[in-house]
Amino acid sequence: MIGCGKRAQAMARGLTAEPRCQVVALTDLKQEAAAGLDQSFGFGAAVFTDHRRMLAEVKPDVVVASLWTPLHLPVFRDCAEAGVKAVLSEKPMAPTWGEALEMARIAESSGCRLTFCHQRRFCEGNRAVRRLLAEGRFGKILAMDLYSPCCLLDCGTHTFDQALSFNNESPAKWVHAAVDASEVKLQFGVPAEKMLSALVVFENGVRAWMQSLGPDRDMPTGLRIHATNGLLEVGWDGQIGRAHVFDDPAWRPPELPAPEQDAAMAGVVRDTIDGLATGKEPELSHQKALRATEIIFACYESAATHRRVELPLTRTDNAFTTVFGERAPGASGA
Ligand SMILES: NC(=O)c1ccc[n+]([C@@H]2O[C@H](COP(=O)([O-])OP(=O)(O)OC[C@H]3O[C@@H](n4cnc5c(N)ncnc54)[C@H](O)[C@@H]3O)[C@@H](O)[C@H]2O)c1
Repeated sequence: MIGCGKRAQAMARGLTAEPRCQVVALTDLKQEAAAGLDQSFGFGAAVFTDHRRMLAEVKPDVVVASLWTPLHLPVFRDCAEAGVKAVLSEKPMAPTWGEALEMARIAESSGCRLTFCHQRRFCEGNRAVRRLLAEGRFGKILAMDLYSPCCLLDCGTHTFDQALSFNNESPAKWVHAAVDASEVKLQFGVPAEKMLSALVVFENGVRAWMQSLGPDRDMPTGLRIHATNGLLEVGWDGQIGRAHVFDDPAWRPPELPAPEQDAAMAGVVRDTIDGLATGKEPELSHQKALRATEIIFACYESAATHRRVELPLTRTDNAFTTVFGERAPGASGA
């Protein structure tokens, strides 16, 4: 494991549930963070403060990286160069579209598999909704209202990933967005908006309206699906809210257990290891993460340039950072 802060605790719980994994080394700039994680979970792992040294000495098969966003690409590159077979990284992919593309390029050219922790795909409720949609219970999706409780890059990635998983992974066609940048903060090292709203049109014709942050969100997280034969509200963790099937008013959604983060994290680790064992595309593959990531950077480009943006995205920076980054705390001009 590289990075032994808050998210590493959740990753560690997922790792302990996977019999094919043994945690052999923990690395954090803060020695006490790595040693503390080792003690809490009783891994008996070697403790390092330099990930390159750990990679050279331990030669792990798999790395779980729980690091702030700007470190995702450089640490993944080091892992791939060291011959690691698979890296499970925290989301979001990277601070810019170019870095996200570079991670994908390295994964594809080196053979080091790459997955991202969009753990909510493994929540029971989200699985149930995918099944109901596949069975045609609600008819065809027409539109979705999407909600992100913090900035688009850091949290919108979960919401767009959820929307893509419900919408047959259809790529987006174009986006149009507006941003409130009257206050810019840093979210895990990346400048973030006060609020963003966007219209996203997918290649399969489905339309989605996104609100990240800001007042009057009528759902805290997740999405509302408007379909030809129904309406369904689903929270991030698969909590079902309003649910109606128009031609069957007596229909009620299935009774589901309360969402369990540990079960979702067990799914994340199992998915990465299954991908390595079978060679099949994991549910949390970098290819799927790229789709959500491209929409995010297209929204930032549209908001920063006041234009509708067609995909595939050609600009490789983070347009929000380029245009508004100097307002972030600590930046020159802030
Ligand atoms: N999947 C989710 O639901 C979810 C939720 C919250 C955060 N996140 C993501 O998780 C990531 C990490 O967040 P966190 O809350 O764990 O942060 P954190 O600050 O709690 O932990 C990061 C750790 O990395 C260590 N570190 C920094 N540089 C290092 C280096 N070069 N080598 C080794 N260790 C290093 C730090 O000392 C710290 O202990 C962020 O990118 C965030 O977006 C994901």
